[in-house]
Amino acid sequence: MWDYTDKVKQMFLNPKNIGEVENADAVGDVGSIVCGDALRLTLKIDKETGRITDAKFQTFGCASAIASSSALTELVKGKTIEEARKITNQDIADFLGGLPKEKMHCSVMGREALDAAIANYKGLPPVVEEEGRLVCKCFNVTEEKIRKVAAENHLTTVDEIIDFTKAGGGCGECQPEIEAILRDMWSLKVPEKPSVPKKLTNLQKIALIQEIIEKEIRPALQADGGDIDLLDIDGSKVLIALRGMCTGCVMSGVTLEGIQTKLRELVSDNITVEAQ
Ligand code: FES
Repeated sequence: MWDYTDKVKQMFLNPKNIGEVENADAVGDVGSIVCGDALRLTLKIDKETGRITDAKFQTFGCASAIASSSALTELVKGKTIEEARKITNQDIADFLGGLPKEKMHCSVMGREALDAAIANYKGLPPVVEEEGRLVCKCFNVTEEKIRKVAAENHLTTVDEIIDFTKAGGGCGECQPEIEAILRDMWSLKVPEKPSVPKKLTNLQKIALIQEIIEKEIRPALQADGGDIDLLDIDGSKVLIALRGMCTGCVMSGVTLEGIQTKLRELVSDNITVEAQ
């Protein structure tokens, strides 16, 4: 039995905003009944102010899916489109006082319905779930979605991906692939053919470290929403600060180790990297 908060129970037993907004200005359809969850979000939007004046939902799914959808409609009402698009799946879960971790995929579905409705309002092509390489055939989940949800929620394990996307939670065949995606996301790749300069002056060493951070390390971190600042170089000690998504990330120790490995490969094998 899931441990639901009182707010989840309340939003499930007395959900708000059920149904379909009449003459909706935006419609967001996500999920599929075959996969167990589906959600239609409809919005009424004031054309002059861009403010969402009404929101309703129709959900096929479990108690958490209904509570999450209801929470989503409450969260978006009164917000402008620009304000609404900043709502995260964690905001939906927080509104409910939390969700059992195994049910976080319901909050993700809410966030996806909002993305789909906003795209629909802006006249953009529908967010096609099948886009990208299909990883989990049981739940129709693409690599793109796994990467996006993992980055947004700092997910590092296959179990967490199952909780947030359902991918991997069926036959389990795709689990090694999910693991490979996570490994690729959260670790820095060491170049295949490092060119190790033999003897470097202090100035050459500092210049080389700066160049490697700029050209190799920073782009890899930025691709996952993080960043790095080089603070100081004292002999073989390199002092850095991790920024953005890297700040407080549970994998920051692995990231630090990856940076050190790369600098040892490319500059000198006695380099130590410390984060401030
Ligand atoms: S293919 Fe992903 S769980 Fe079956």
